[in-house]
Amino acid sequence: MPQLDEIVTEIAQEMACYSDRGEVASYIPELARIDPKHFGIAVIDAEGNAHIGGDGDMAFSIQSISKVFTLTLALGKAGDRLWRRVGREPSGSAFNSIVLLENEKGIPRNPFINAGAIAVTDLILSGHQPREALGEILHFMRFLADDPSIAIDEAVAASEQRTGFRNAALANYMKSFGVLDNPVDYTLGVYFHHCAIAMSCRQLAMAGRFLAWQGLNPSTGHRVVQAERARRINSIMLTCGHYDGSGEFAYRVGLPGKSGVGGGILAVAPGKASIAVWAPGLDANGNSHLGRIALEALTRRMGWSIF
Ligand code: DON
Repeated sequence: MPQLDEIVTEIAQEMACYSDRGEVASYIPELARIDPKHFGIAVIDAEGNAHIGGDGDMAFSIQSISKVFTLTLALGKAGDRLWRRVGREPSGSAFNSIVLLENEKGIPRNPFINAGAIAVTDLILSGHQPREALGEILHFMRFLADDPSIAIDEAVAASEQRTGFRNAALANYMKSFGVLDNPVDYTLGVYFHHCAIAMSCRQLAMAGRFLAWQGLNPSTGHRVVQAERARRINSIMLTCGHYDGSGEFAYRVGLPGKSGVGGGILAVAPGKASIAVWAPGLDANGNSHLGRIALEALTRRMGWSIF
């Protein structure tokens, strides 16, 4: 699709010129060192072609984007039982907020806020050793992206483990309500490490294909999840994937998307494309500032909004 190639190249050039790039996350010290000038984009189209722009092949910390894949894995293990420990409603508060948990019996609003993702990770762990659970998550990412080189950035994981006091508070608080089954330090260890997986836009867009093509891996024809499950994961990405910025993202971009504080966003254009962008500077909600602008430009030019 030559038109798409041109649009991706144009967007990468336009993003290079922006001076207002947002603020790089600093609460995870290792992420504060990343240069905000990076911009990457990868679009996998319906024919399976990859259109790459800027730093689209440079690995970055996927952070909360990993929550899409842990949710998929946990649903595969527990099915609808998962929804007993986590809800499906937007929280209207920050990704690391604790406030709603007290009135809601320790049940997090959705699987994408930190509390919800920790509860999901605890389900994947369910009695296994942290190393085994992490191995399973990593194996799933490599399988989906068709790339065995995907790995955890141990420096980022250690950095978050040292400073993740809020996540420790969330986990302990949920544990006090009986929402977590495993020792809190096990669950947090797995959570910090899956957030620290490093991937490029190309790898992420590859991994997201099953969400754009009704649960299928389009290149092998293998089913990853049922079509209904892919649709449901997309719906949670649309309503909760950008925390308190989810409404704005739906309004401007019009696609299911999941952000991470590393500055990545995975977005899904059903039947059309799997898309990943990366720009490390964040807006006030902790979502990539330029990443959202780039996706808005892409969906407008391609007519890909689902609305
Ligand atoms: O737990 C944390 O705070 C990070 N590992 C992930 C948060 C995150 O990516 C929020 N997304 N924009």
